[in-house]
Amino acid sequence: MMWLAVLILLSTTNIIDCKAQHPLFESFEVPVFNPKPSSGSLVKPNAVARFSILTERLIRLEFDESGIFRNFPSFAVVNRYIKPPPFLIEYPGNGRMLVKTKYLTLSYAYQHNNSFTDDSLSIEFLHSNGTTSTWKPSMDPAEGNLRGTVRNLDNYYKAPDLDCRFETDPNQHCTLGLISRTGWTLIDDTFTPRLDHQTPSTQHSISPGS
Ligand SMILES: *[C@@H]1O[C@H](CO)[C@@H](O)[C@H](O)[C@H]1NC(C)=O
Ligand SMILES: *[C@@H]1O[C@H](CO)[C@@H](O)[C@H](O)[C@H]1NC(C)=O
Repeated sequence: MMWLAVLILLSTTNIIDCKAQHPLFESFEVPVFNPKPSSGSLVKPNAVARFSILTERLIRLEFDESGIFRNFPSFAVVNRYIKPPPFLIEYPGNGRMLVKTKYLTLSYAYQHNNSFTDDSLSIEFLHSNGTTSTWKPSMDPAEGNLRGTVRNLDNYYKAPDLDCRFETDPNQHCTLGLISRTGWTLIDDTFTPRLDHQTPSTQHSISPGS
């Protein structure tokens, strides 16, 4: 089983620099991107898990039981090369490791090649009023989400429900939005296509599964 996700908490998006990179895109600007995170972002607690600490409020979480971690761009995420934020790694001695940024404290029971469950993984995050909340993997990202998108409006005779829990047609690829009243958002990239090359012009070489 593979679990690949990006957790955005109280997120701000990092767009690095805008420049035309490819003749196909001469008419509009494409951000420069590099899907491979800086080595300074990577935390590798054991053989099966990898965390990329992308910003103080944005962490990529990967679990793969054969220990294969991928840096391909996906439809949702093309750039992971961001200057790593300051963070600390601590081992409080109970079989867990803590990764602390200014706003997030990730806690992972790393010793037994654990997959990501409520017992093994949690992230405590700081609200602007100084209180904290805790995210766990079983929490429903649709709860509090301020709605997402569907692929198209064909065959709709009424407005689509952009709460993806109620959009029953899988062909619509309903995707939750990035803003939530809970203060956190999860982008689950586990089963989304990956792009084999680094420019969007190569979308014909999509492989399933990232
Ligand atoms: C974790 O997995 C690695 C790679 O399969 C293996 O070498 C190691 O012994 C495992 N550790 C534990 C505690 O099971
Ligand atoms: C602090 O903010 C959080 C998130 O908006 C809210 O749930 C909580 O009730 C607030 N606590 C206080 C004491 O204002």
